[in-house]
Amino acid sequence: MKVTVVGAGGNVGSTVALTVAQRDFAKEVVMVDIEQKEGDKTFYPSRGRALDQWESAPVHGFDTRLTGTVDYEDTADSDVCVITAGIPRKPGMSRDDLLEINANIVRSVTSQLMEYSPDTILIVVSNPLDVMTYVAYEASGLPKEKVMGMAGILDTARYRAFLAEELNVSPKDIQALLMGGHGDTMVPLPRYTTVSGIPVTQLIDSDKLDGIVERTKKGGGEIVGLMGTSAWYAPGAAAAQMVEAIMLDQNRIFPCCARLTGEYGIDNLYVGVPVKLGHGGIKEILEVDLDEKEQDLLAESASHVRSVLEDFKKLMKD
Ligand code: LAC
Repeated sequence: MKVTVVGAGGNVGSTVALTVAQRDFAKEVVMVDIEQKEGDKTFYPSRGRALDQWESAPVHGFDTRLTGTVDYEDTADSDVCVITAGIPRKPGMSRDDLLEINANIVRSVTSQLMEYSPDTILIVVSNPLDVMTYVAYEASGLPKEKVMGMAGILDTARYRAFLAEELNVSPKDIQALLMGGHGDTMVPLPRYTTVSGIPVTQLIDSDKLDGIVERTKKGGGEIVGLMGTSAWYAPGAAAAQMVEAIMLDQNRIFPCCARLTGEYGIDNLYVGVPVKLGHGGIKEILEVDLDEKEQDLLAESASHVRSVLEDFKKLMKD
């Protein structure tokens, strides 16, 4: 089983690669990135990071072979490809500010991947996430089950971590669902949040819960504010979990960015919803009951994603 990670000279990509390797289910992980010229020197960040990580294999105790490259030929016959390429946010930027530059990168990366792995499964991590996943879907020509974006696992992980801290319980025992776009309009769903089966609303007062929901929506920005660039540990771990679910055919239910064709009243748009992940990619999109308020919030989030998509389409025409 072969996994490719593009953008692996960067923090998110290399975290995906190392997390996959540490879980030891893949035969090889190919880490792709461009070379970097500084003066008369040329650096190869993906090769450097791959070598450093491979040198940790004896200590961590994994067999997955990590290699770095600048050449897409080395990605041939990948089962899953994760696209993390693009520029990250700086303080004061929204994810949508990255639109034009990252769209060009994601399109070019996708076509190069498709040349060598025409049947692969694509997981997009680049921002603005929902629109970048749409861009990869169109550029790949793959069926919708095979092209998805990573956002919901990260966003629910943040929500679960905040709840675990507040309730002083294990983060492992918190199950949660979140829908919508990967931006400040995302929709955490307290009604679908439990602590080992106990509805979270029985354990926390509503003001505190509202505060945690708001903090979750701005979770990415909180990290940018602290570090001057965007997060990588939680995003990388989340993408690796999707790779594992697909490659081991786990049938895990996760919120992922998927192409909707009428589900939840949304058509021809990539947006976060609960899906079943296993061999072949998205096996099913789950349609859960939403009350009127939840449905309105989801529609609002989807309409924000659609407006960024329209901006993208306009950019491409100019
Ligand atoms: C975040 C970026 C990766 O949410 O979108 O941290």
